[in-house]
Amino acid sequence: MSEKVLVTGGAGFIGHILIKHLLDNTDWEIVTIDRLDYSGNLNRFSHMLKDADSETKKRVKIIYHDLKSEINNLIDSQIRDVKHVFHLAASSHVDRSIVDPMTFVYDNVVATGNLLNYARNLDKLETFVYFSTDEVFGPAPDNISFKEWDRYNSTNPYSASKAGGEELAVAFENTYDLPILITHTMNVFGERQHPEKFVPNTLWKLRENKKVLIHSNKDKTKPGSRHYVYAEDVARAVLFLVQNLELVKKGNLDEYGAKCLKVNIPGTKELNNLEVAQLISKFSGYKLNYELVDFHSTRPGHDLRYALDDSFIKSIGWEPKYSVEEGFEKLVKWFLENPEWLDF
Ligand SMILES: NC(=O)c1ccc[n+]([C@@H]2O[C@H](COP(=O)([O-])OP(=O)(O)OC[C@H]3O[C@@H](n4cnc5c(N)ncnc54)[C@H](O)[C@@H]3O)[C@@H](O)[C@H]2O)c1
Repeated sequence: MSEKVLVTGGAGFIGHILIKHLLDNTDWEIVTIDRLDYSGNLNRFSHMLKDADSETKKRVKIIYHDLKSEINNLIDSQIRDVKHVFHLAASSHVDRSIVDPMTFVYDNVVATGNLLNYARNLDKLETFVYFSTDEVFGPAPDNISFKEWDRYNSTNPYSASKAGGEELAVAFENTYDLPILITHTMNVFGERQHPEKFVPNTLWKLRENKKVLIHSNKDKTKPGSRHYVYAEDVARAVLFLVQNLELVKKGNLDEYGAKCLKVNIPGTKELNNLEVAQLISKFSGYKLNYELVDFHSTRPGHDLRYALDDSFIKSIGWEPKYSVEEGFEKLVKWFLENPEWLDF
């Protein structure tokens, strides 16, 4: 019988891409837990699996559950024998966290605590992957890229709640020997991303001939920047890490001897917000109409620059498959062929 894994948040953007990658590259049975809020969309499954055979479709089981509540006996009976847990379920939109911080505390800290606590009883568990973000490190000064064990410096409730969940995961390894692997991922872009996020939202604005507001510094001279990574590459990295755990363990990442594993998943290149909009314009053929706006005044809690050091994951032999330009070209083409995914 093939092995079983749990993906939380599988109806979300990265979760469904990870599930597709696992279906295509392993023979694992995949159980996903999702509470199907505004960002969790079951249509992602029907769309991505529309050409899959019935055997492949049967390998995915979707369980409706809100992780703010403990795992009950019925769910336990479905996931008791999982080998890996990929914990992606989270409230994920920074702007929403600024309006409603407590939802983020419950979804990203309390729900993570529930799942970690449950995972202590999983006899076959080999890895619990906690999906964290570059945002836990806060703004990166020019020429600085944060390493895996650098300090947290959250500037909004989203990043603080992700750092809280991350630190709980560290504690569950130290206290209960749970086999934790934490990933920090940069800005992810890809198919079926929710249209409220910057990349699909920019393409939508270009299509609708609306002005794109580019967040920049106070003087409106320098757009904010991010490293971008294609969702398929994130899925490749995650599978690579769980399949090469011995290599990760040898990395001895923390100079002070912390035993929990942490790995940055980098993008290939840093792009500022204007460059992203220009790439989307170039690949779509839509004209870009933009204005630089002072992001500090209009969006408190937003950082001008995030950056992660990529030397560790590269040292163990992983690199993204797609350059940023290739990724954006592929993605824009996909959205133009599937325009319904740009509509709110
Ligand atoms: N998108 C990015 O650029 C990015 C970057 C770094 C890290 N991350 C992290 O990756 C993970 C996935 O991000 P995403 O962009 O796919 O998010 P998403 O918002 O698209 O998906 C999150 C999913 O989790 C589900 N969910 C939320 N709270 C839940 C709860 N309490 N119980 C059960 N299900 C719940 C939602 O219904 C949704 O399907 C998150 O943990 C996020 O913090 C995302």
